[in-house]
Amino acid sequence: MTEQAPLPPAGAAPDWTIPQRWQAYTAADHATWDQLYARQMALLPDRVVPDFLSGVAALGLDAPGIPDFEALSARLRRLTGWSVVAVPGLVPDEVFFEHLANRRFVAGNFIRSAAQLDYLQEPDVFHDVFGHVPLLAHPVYADYMQAYGRGGLRAIGFGAIHKLARLYWHTVEFGLIRDGDRLRLFGAGILSSWGESQYALDDPAPPRIAFDLRRVMRTEYLIDRFQQHYFVIDSFEDLLRRTLEVDFGPLYAELEHLPDLAPDLTLPSDRLYHAGAPRPGPP
Ligand code: PHE
Ligand code: FE
Repeated sequence: MTEQAPLPPAGAAPDWTIPQRWQAYTAADHATWDQLYARQMALLPDRVVPDFLSGVAALGLDAPGIPDFEALSARLRRLTGWSVVAVPGLVPDEVFFEHLANRRFVAGNFIRSAAQLDYLQEPDVFHDVFGHVPLLAHPVYADYMQAYGRGGLRAIGFGAIHKLARLYWHTVEFGLIRDGDRLRLFGAGILSSWGESQYALDDPAPPRIAFDLRRVMRTEYLIDRFQQHYFVIDSFEDLLRRTLEVDFGPLYAELEHLPDLAPDLTLPSDRLYHAGAPRPGPP
């Protein structure tokens, strides 16, 4: 049986991109961005990895209003060769990987309504651009994201996208990073969420577990609530080394024989930065 990838919606290019249509945003759309931006920037300076803040400044994301992807991409291209392209919403995996492998970050062009400031199901321009794009100005993070895209195209052949997707989820979306003896935020899903930007660092409940590639690839995730634990990387250099320099082919095969891990367990083998109050898992 061959699986047919869904076709792009009417008006989208074969690679699923659409014009951002920056002129079509209303004053209310820009005001929603400004409100979300102000809320996050009141919280993040003391919590986020400093590279995120330098990225915001270097890319001009501190200017008011929803960014124009052309101007944003011009700056980003000069820094790391990445660009930002608009898509109507979530795209099929292979389309997503293909863009990343070519240093294009796909971003929804729509913005949430004022009634949905705290939660929405589909990633909008605030999550995609504010959450993800500033770190793409960091050369090592930029390399990691491209390597991930290439790894995604490879994972399709191994039937292992779900394992690779867990790596993305537990790092790019919800990762924490060590900074001396404290932790900081870097995952985009946290950075675009007012509630989780506080919860992920301050709440005593979720364990903070040192990143381990096998462990992360076995760990399921929930998409509709705060995470029940967080994984902590040492540095972007270390994350890149632990992923780029490993052939995932044999790893996918090996993990086929190991049980998946529920999103609220800790294992005796976990190296914990913060023990939290998890459900103890199997040895
Ligand atoms: N090394 C991975 C592979 O063999 C590719 C990869 C690199 C995936 C970096 C994610 C991040 O498939
Ligand atoms: Fe995201």
